Amino acid sequence: MKMNGARIVTIFGASGFVGRHVVQELARQGWRIRAAVRRPHLAHFLRPMGMTGQIYPVQANLRHEASVRQAIAGADAVINLVGILFQSGAQSFDAIHVEGAETIARVCKEAGIGTLLHVSALGADPHALSLYAASKAVGEMAVRAHMPDAVIFRPSVIFGPEDRFFNFFAFLARLSPVIPLFGGGETRMQPVYVGDVAKAVAYALDEPRTRGKTYELGGAEIMSLADIWQLVLKATARKRFLVPVPFWLASLKAAFLGLLPRPLITRDQLRMLKTDNIVSAQAIAQGHTLEGLGITPNAPAALVSGYLVRFRPAGEFTQIEEGELSNS
Ligand SMILES: NC(=O)c1ccc[n+]([C@@H]2O[C@H](COP(=O)([O-])OP(=O)(O)OC[C@H]3O[C@@H](n4cnc5c(N)ncnc54)[C@H](OP(=O)(O)O)[C@@H]3O)[C@@H](O)[C@H]2O)c1
Repeated sequence: MKMNGARIVTIFGASGFVGRHVVQELARQGWRIRAAVRRPHLAHFLRPMGMTGQIYPVQANLRHEASVRQAIAGADAVINLVGILFQSGAQSFDAIHVEGAETIARVCKEAGIGTLLHVSALGADPHALSLYAASKAVGEMAVRAHMPDAVIFRPSVIFGPEDRFFNFFAFLARLSPVIPLFGGGETRMQPVYVGDVAKAVAYALDEPRTRGKTYELGGAEIMSLADIWQLVLKATARKRFLVPVPFWLASLKAAFLGLLPRPLITRDQLRMLKTDNIVSAQAIAQGHTLEGLGITPNAPAALVSGYLVRFRPAGEFTQIEEGELSNS
């Protein structure tokens, strides 16, 4: 491992799905990492990802400015990976995606932090029907207002061993013989590998030409929702009926499921599913993509079967035809 001087990076959301991969990648690059989390005593699992003392959890909540200020004091770079998929109490889209993002950017500016990398989401649009996507767009504007040189990443759906995407689909496929294909399964996405996102973060911190730019991060393949289901069914060796369900009916179902304390799917997520979630032609033309950052994205087919194996009827002992997955 090479040491990178004593540069300190504060990572908000370090304990999350993407956060732990970013921590690992930056530790490998020799950064000293302040993992800014709400419950530091639950984030000690991050420490062995680096050398002794290289990674240390500190307490911070985006809704409490003083804790944000303390977490970034003396840092050379700051990364915001905080996001929520559904609202719950004080954890509203506005509080987290807009005000929280604004607080970090403003405090960074006041503290003279050189580099801020903010993770938003593909589909961020102030006019989006989805509150999640609209709040992500307003958050980006707040970040740019204080830190025009911030690097903004907009990933499509992110996959990897602990994802809540392919794992969730595989979980549903285990439960039910019939799978609803929302909106006919035609919406297109570009699942991007969490390891590639982490590499992109590490690269961007060290690359001045990324300053002030917005990157759209998509994976190697554009897949429809139906393609994604086919891949999951192959990877988990399950045969299921895929039944097209119109959005209005799905929305009715989500209205009930959204009442659960940790909803399986919300109406807001369904709204997001109405729009393709793929890298735009403009980002490709400008090179504001993973490839533009020098990263060749991984394809889901090559990786998901490895971690979805536990969802097969007999786990790793389930027989799968030779070459079946590579054809997907
Ligand atoms: N995963 C995807 O498919 C995907 C796709 C596009 C964009 N993104 C964006 O990428 C970023 C990372 O996503 P992820 O999948 O890693 O999410 P995640 O696993 O849910 O992690 C989110 C992190 O935010 C922290 N957090 C929540 N509320 C907070 C608050 N008030 N103050 C401080 N920290 C708080 C959580 O910590 P606690 O343990 O304290 O709750 C957690 O560490 C998010 O901005 C997300 O919107 C993700």
